[in-house]
Parts: sequence; structure tokens; C-alpha cells
Amino acid sequence: MIIGICSDHAGVEYKSKLISYLLGKGYEVVNFGTDSTDSCDYPDFAHPMGKAVESGKCNLGIAICGTGNGMAMTLNHHKGIRAGLAWNTAIGKLVKEHNNANVLVLPARFISYQMAVSIVRAWLSTQFAGGRHQRRIDKIPL
Ligand code: RB5
Repeated sequence: MIIGICSDHAGVEYKSKLISYLLGKGYEVVNFGTDSTDSCDYPDFAHPMGKAVESGKCNLGIAICGTGNGMAMTLNHHKGIRAGLAWNTAIGKLVKEHNNANVLVLPARFISYQMAVSIVRAWLSTQFAGGRHQRRIDKIPL
């Protein structure tokens, strides 16, 4: 399982801690940056990670910015990406179970790091339910 991860300056601290967490759990992790707290533009990091998940170079992705919205809006322009924003554990579970999100988006300025880890754990350990949810996600692409 190869997980891509990216952030802007607002998410870089959580990204760096999550990389250590994921490596400790045995995941392979590809870091798409940023690696600095200097102000930057989230699409510069979201698009390369989106392409890697779309192409299968990464199986899943995690994207972190201040609110999560910039990352989600950018990543959802990729046809092969379903990027879902989660701010608590229940939504972290449901974004996989119902929406089969292949990218999890976290709002670093609105959740604690402990919550970020709980959400990641919930998302990674949940399976897509399929059935009526497959029918619904099939209707998303334009
Ligand atoms: C950066 O200040 C902030 O705008 C960004 O992290 C994100 O929240 C955008 O959606």
C-alpha cells in the first residue's frame, strides 16, 4: 500500500507527523511537499499527488491545508480522484464507506493532530460498502 501525502504551509506540520505515523504502521509513503512553513499555493502540491493517485503510482492520498477546501477543490478536478474532506472520525469512516474517497482531505487549522490521526485510522481501516453507493459515485463524473 503506497500512500501519497501533500500539504500547503498550513498543513505541513501535520503532514510531517503523519508521515512518521504511517511509516511506523508499515505503509510506504510518497511525500509531494510542501516541506516548508513558507506561504505557498496548495495546487502546486495537490496536482502532482492527484496525478500519482490517478495513475496508480500511489494507491491512496492524503491532502492537508488550512480548511481542506482548497485541496479538495483542486484534487476533485482530476477525473480519477474522489477527494473527501473529513473533520471527525465518523466522517473519516463514511467518506470511505459511502464515497470511496481515494484521497482524504484534512483541515489542519480546525482539528487537533490527535483527531487527524483518528480520522486517518478510520479512513484506512474502512471498506467501501458498494451497492447503492457505487451507483451514486458512478453518477459523479461529468
Ligand atoms: C492558507 O492560508 C489557506 O488559505 C489554505 O491553507 C487553505 O485553507 C485553502 O483552502
